[in-house]
Amino acid sequence: MSRQIKVYQDKVALVGGALGLVLEQIKQAIAQRGQCSLVLAGGSTPKPLYEALAQQDLPWEKLHIFWGDERYVPPTHPDSNEGMAREAWLDAVDFPAANIHGMPTSAQDPQKDASRYEAELREFFGVSAGEFPVFDLILLGMGDDGHTASLFPQTAALEVCDRLITVGEKSGQPRLTFTIPLINQGRCVIFMVAGANKQPALQQVFAETADPVAYPSRFIQPQGELWWLLDEAAGTVLKSFNNLVIE
Ligand code: 6PG
Repeated sequence: MSRQIKVYQDKVALVGGALGLVLEQIKQAIAQRGQCSLVLAGGSTPKPLYEALAQQDLPWEKLHIFWGDERYVPPTHPDSNEGMAREAWLDAVDFPAANIHGMPTSAQDPQKDASRYEAELREFFGVSAGEFPVFDLILLGMGDDGHTASLFPQTAALEVCDRLITVGEKSGQPRLTFTIPLINQGRCVIFMVAGANKQPALQQVFAETADPVAYPSRFIQPQGELWWLLDEAAGTVLKSFNNLVIE
């Protein structure tokens, strides 16, 4: 794993930096493998990135979109991560419908839908039980409690290592999420983190020692590239770590 940390002066600059890195990774994947498998994050931070991607002129037919986690609601629900990305980007460009692989949430049974998505991933990548597919690019956010995707502190989802997709939960509400081993298979994993409220969790995630079960973003140690893209409001806390190289 190679880890790089970049701190930008504000959120606008952070989004600009993320756009440049994402475009570079997309073009590299298409050049090397003919297509790019891109996993989107939910929450609020990535929305301006998705809006910026909608302004790009890319070979959309060579991009396949997945989600790293989803609230257990339909895509039309205001909380839906898929709904947010469709409104900000995917429905605003000529994106082939078959290339948008939303997490199913209609079975009224989160575990059944988690298994359905797992089966879809296995079919798309041609991997069998016990194997983990390698996504080209995985976007992540981090909550102020140190969670990422829907891998929340002290939850059972953190222990699932033999599946691709599992059921997470936040305040008793079910969510579908990539598992830690699936994320860690990624060729390139990019965290986008903004806001001073993220400082305490960042302090623990980057500390020499801390409990990853309490700060699950610590579990993210991908076999490929790991990028932390932060705005100054969040990233300033890392400047006290003299063992970190911050660009
Ligand atoms: C979600 C996300 C979640 C998010 C973090 C950060 O479904 O909410 O996948 O992991 O990335 O909570 O959210 P913000 O970007 O809104 O701070």
